[in-house]
Amino acid sequence: MKATITAIGGFVPSSILSNEMISRMVETTGEWIVKRTGIKERRLAKDENQGTSDLACAAIENLFETYDIDRSEIDGLVLATATPDHLLTPTASKVCEKSGFTNAFGFDLNAACSGFLYALEMATTMIESGRYEKVVVVGADKMSSIVDYEDRNTCILFGDGAGAVLLEKTESEYGMMKSILRTDGSGTSALLVPAGGSKLPATAQTIADKKHFVNQEGAFVFKRAVESMSNVSRDVLASNELTVDDIDWVVPHQANLRIINAVSETLNIAAEKVKVNIDRYGNTTSATIPLCLWDFAADFKEGQNILITTFGAGFSWGATCLKWGVMRNLRNLQAIKTEKELEHDLVCS
Ligand code: COA
Repeated sequence: MKATITAIGGFVPSSILSNEMISRMVETTGEWIVKRTGIKERRLAKDENQGTSDLACAAIENLFETYDIDRSEIDGLVLATATPDHLLTPTASKVCEKSGFTNAFGFDLNAACSGFLYALEMATTMIESGRYEKVVVVGADKMSSIVDYEDRNTCILFGDGAGAVLLEKTESEYGMMKSILRTDGSGTSALLVPAGGSKLPATAQTIADKKHFVNQEGAFVFKRAVESMSNVSRDVLASNELTVDDIDWVVPHQANLRIINAVSETLNIAAEKVKVNIDRYGNTTSATIPLCLWDFAADFKEGQNILITTFGAGFSWGATCLKWGVMRNLRNLQAIKTEKELEHDLVCS
């Protein structure tokens, strides 16, 4: 029994925060941001009361509008997020209710930027166990809710968005292969939101000290990301008895284009095989990988091998391989972006 992706959906808010706009907010330039990160713009959820659950639901709606599947058949939802709607009550509960998953369990999983890969692995093992058949895996984050737009070290990087995949059991040769997930708590202080949790609950002082925003040691995180993503990718290829030449596409976490390029060069993978959309969305944390799968779904052909790798706060990191399988029938052909539309998007951005 294997698990395979049979449907994909995605959502980014319509409001764009361009480099030019950021350069009017903090001391930086569009040129610096593009050169050091590859990011040209990011999307922000600006609607009043729009939380992570709304982004997740929009991505799920896009999936169900695109592919032919009955919501009542869904067994479970694993929602990867680092920005839940509330500290207490799982965001997944609201998402299950609003998405019409009436016969399903739902829970949140926080592994920061590695959340989607961790969630994919949890859902894969649930399906491989034979106890569940259809699990929706979502990565969704409203990073704008924890970013300080006066801090040029972080506000240039992050954006809001969500991506969703349907994972189903299959007896075919397609689907998820072996994964490797890793965690190292010694990296905690290098990338975190210091206050608002049980360790340092909110007070007037924590707010005054801006401790509810992302704080990071950028250069240190950068180095660890390149090293960890490269090593774990090599290890996961070996554990699946694959070589770099067997890989058709790489879908890396989108944190910084220079990280992506350094990992590709270390692994000796041609740039044309590496999917990149950080220029348009920035780092959407749990959402980068499913948004990338969604954006480039039209390029993936049956039987092709895809390498996914990620790194995030914690530190948390990992990699997996999958053989692209047969997707569910489309409801609405227009909902899948064609290569031409993507080219058009890039030209416009
Ligand atoms: N505009 C202009 N200058 C900036 C800047 C900005 N937005 N942000 C930082 N700088 C300055 C720094 O103050 C520093 O100046 P100094 O030399 O006078 O001290 C200089 O640029 C170099 O800073 P550094 O932090 O070494 O830059 P960098 O090349 O490492 O780029 C990041 C900074 C944040 C873009 C980069 O470190 C990064 O992307 N790190 C990984 C972050 C990440 O991926 N986080 C999420 C993990 S999932």
